Amino acid sequence: MFQLGWFGNLTAPEWTASPTSPYVTDDATNWMDGRFYIDQARNLERAGFDFLMLEDSLMVPDMYRGNSEMALKHARYAPKLDPVVAASMLAYATEHIGIICTASTTFYNPFQLARQFATLDHLTRGRIGWNMVTSSEDRAAQNFGMDKLPEHDLRYEMADEFKRAAEALWDSWDEDAITASPETGYYADYTKVHRADFEGRFYKTRGPLNVPRSPQHYPVYCQAGGSPKGRDFAAKHTDLILNIPNGPEEMKAFRDDIRKRAEGFGRNPDDIKIFFVILPLIGETEEHAREIQDEWNGRKETNFEINMSHFEATQEIDMSVFDPDKPLPADVTTNGHQSTLENTKRAWGDKTIREAASGGRISSLPLVGTAETVADEMEAVMEYVGGDGFLIYNQPMSRHYISTITDALSPALRRRGLIRSGFKHQLLRDNLRDPA
Ligand SMILES: Cc1cc2nc3c(=O)[nH]c(=O)nc-3n(C[C@H](O)[C@H](O)[C@H](O)COP(=O)(O)O)c2cc1C
Repeated sequence: MFQLGWFGNLTAPEWTASPTSPYVTDDATNWMDGRFYIDQARNLERAGFDFLMLEDSLMVPDMYRGNSEMALKHARYAPKLDPVVAASMLAYATEHIGIICTASTTFYNPFQLARQFATLDHLTRGRIGWNMVTSSEDRAAQNFGMDKLPEHDLRYEMADEFKRAAEALWDSWDEDAITASPETGYYADYTKVHRADFEGRFYKTRGPLNVPRSPQHYPVYCQAGGSPKGRDFAAKHTDLILNIPNGPEEMKAFRDDIRKRAEGFGRNPDDIKIFFVILPLIGETEEHAREIQDEWNGRKETNFEINMSHFEATQEIDMSVFDPDKPLPADVTTNGHQSTLENTKRAWGDKTIREAASGGRISSLPLVGTAETVADEMEAVMEYVGGDGFLIYNQPMSRHYISTITDALSPALRRRGLIRSGFKHQLLRDNLRDPA
């Protein structure tokens, strides 16, 4: 048995026919009212997904050729809604599925974040998670009044302290602080509500928080760092890790490495679930699935532009300064997603930038076939890797693609007893650790 998560973007759904969706709907202009995302969340819950992870970034990219044309043409990273705000609406529309919101430890403030996530944990009745990101863009830093992003490893030190500050605030209400006693007339017992008095190198907060202790006390901690510093952070602090290794061997190596690091931090590695990003291409027949794949690989110009936009957004690398008919120079570095860049260099090898960036899709496994054959492959790979789950992704999203997953792949997995058929617990953390 394994678990499913959904990599959600609060960005524009499909506005033109694509290999994974032949239909054009009016979602592309209506998505900002959130209803598309409510339908998505309900479908995922019905289909046995453990959680919906809402990614986030905080800028309109404009590195490629020095303007925002590529970013806005393909709308991968902007425009985008704020997941923390949207989560409360999704919470009201669902009962069981976990909702994980991305929030930056580099730009946000611990008191504000602790208050928002405690509120969301109440509103979801214990289904909230926090994707802790250190962020990766000077452009975002400039939106928050800084000149540039702090250095990569320093951001992880800040994140470590940020989390401790937030926890000091979440600890400030004892479990039994609220008495709401008709007899005494007291609502809360002031001796059970404490100041946090947190003072670190980067953050200082007095407390107490003005939100009472929430059902999970701390949100489910999620992280996606891949560098050595990022892996340590994730192994030390998280319940859930997202990663995109290339193929079963790398998946297994990544999982083994994290579990070993977790043990080194005195943790039970079974308390950490690792989700591998996949983008399955599901057809009605094998031939249909291969046609979808061929169409995907055939739109070389679009793939190239989307890749360029990916580089500028996540690594702040302007790829237009390199000759596209030569390989990516080995000495390119980033203060953004370092492991992403290293993975790209390894995957691209000696290929020219144009050749490498014109094909492919981001996925730990190729997964092309009918729901039945893809389900078989997922089962075999997960058995080899040892656990824990897959994070399904596509962008732009469409109702059609959601349906191929929730109405074809999920039922095929469920028939094999591979994914949950219900939710045993109320809290996201409990459901993650104990899949039904
Ligand atoms: C599946 C996945 C989802 C991610 N989601 C976000 C996100 O929403 N926002 C963000 O700023 N970074 C996101 N990241 C980036 C990570 O937080 C991290 O910065 C990146 O993987 C590089 O880690 P490293 O610097 O330790 O190599 C994501 C990464 C992965 C693999």
